[in-house]
Amino acid sequence: MSLGSKADTFLERYKKIVKAVENAIEGYLAHDSSTPELLQEAMLYSLRAGGKRIRPAMAIMACQACKGDGMKAMPAAAALEMIHTYSLIHDDLPAMDNDDLRRGQPTSHKVFGDGMAILAGDALLTYAFHTLALYVQDAEQVKKLTIELAEAAGAPGMIGGQVADLQSATTPRTLENVDYIHTHKTAVMFRAAARMGGICADADNHQLEWLGDYGLKLGLAFQIADDLFDVNGDETTLGKRVGKDADAGKLTYPEVLGVEESQGKAGDLFVRAIKAAEKFGTDGEVLKQLAEMVRQRNS
Ligand code: IPE
Ligand code: IPE
Ligand code: MG
Ligand code: MG
Ligand code: MG
Repeated sequence: MSLGSKADTFLERYKKIVKAVENAIEGYLAHDSSTPELLQEAMLYSLRAGGKRIRPAMAIMACQACKGDGMKAMPAAAALEMIHTYSLIHDDLPAMDNDDLRRGQPTSHKVFGDGMAILAGDALLTYAFHTLALYVQDAEQVKKLTIELAEAAGAPGMIGGQVADLQSATTPRTLENVDYIHTHKTAVMFRAAARMGGICADADNHQLEWLGDYGLKLGLAFQIADDLFDVNGDETTLGKRVGKDADAGKLTYPEVLGVEESQGKAGDLFVRAIKAAEKFGTDGEVLKQLAEMVRQRNS
C-alpha cells in the first residue's frame, strides 16, 4: 500500500497515509481464535468509527522528514492510534466524562456496556505494545519506541493528565494548572508521535528534540482548540457532544483565558510548531503542512 508521493497534494498524501494506517491496524489486530468475538467486535467498532488519525500520520510524516521510509514507522503509527482509541473509550465512560457520542457514533459503553468498554480499552492498550514488539524489526528501535510510548501514555504522561482532569472541578483556576492538564492528557502523546517517527528513521538527538518540540507545541494547540470547540463547535461536524466541559466543571483554556486569548495562544503555538518543522529544511515541509491542516480543522 502506497503512502503517496511528492507529486500528490498534501491532502492526497494525508488520505493515503490514513488508509494505509487503517489497513495496517486491521492486519495487526487480525482475529486470534482465542480472542472472544465480542471483545474483537468492540475493539473494531471504535477503531472503524473514523477519527482523524492525526497521531499516526504525524509519526509517518516525522519519519519521512528525517529521510526515513514512512512504512518503517507503520507499527509505531498503529500503536499510537490503538492507545489513542483506548483512551477515548475510557474517557467517555460514565465514571469519567460520561459521553454518549464519539466519532459520530454511540460510545463503546453505550453499545457494549461499561465492562466490555473497559476491557476493549485494556485490550487495545496491550495490543499497542505487542505491535511494537512483533513488527518493528530493529531491536534497539523497539526498546526506544517502547520507552517513548510508555512514558507518554502512562502515569507521568497521559494518565497523569487524565487524573488531573478528573480532579479539575476543584482545582484552582490558574494557567499553570490548565497547562499541566492539557500538556499531559494530550500534548505528550503528540510529542511521542513525532519522536517515534524520528526513532524509526534513526534520527539523531537534535532531530528528536526538534520533533518533540514540534509535537508538544502542536499538541497543546490542538487541545486548546478542542476546548474551544466545546464552547462554540458543531456537534454533527465534531461527532461528539459539545458544551459539556463547563457543566462538568472542567478546567479549560477558555475558562482561564477567555475565548479570544485562548485563540491567540493556540495561534502562537501553531506558529512555534511550524518554526520547529522548519529546522528540517525542505524535508520539514510535510510537517509544516500537517500543522497547517490541524490549525484549519473544524472537527
Ligand atoms: C480527541 O482527539 C481527544 C483529544 C485529545 C482532544 P481527536 O480529536 O484526535 O479524536 P479523533 O481520533 O479524531 O476521533
Ligand atoms: C481527552 O480530552 C484526552 C484523552 C482522551 C487522553 P477530552 O475529554 O477533552 O476529549 P474529548 O473532548 O472527550 O474528545
Ligand atoms: Mg476527558
Ligand atoms: Mg472527554
Ligand atoms: Mg474535549
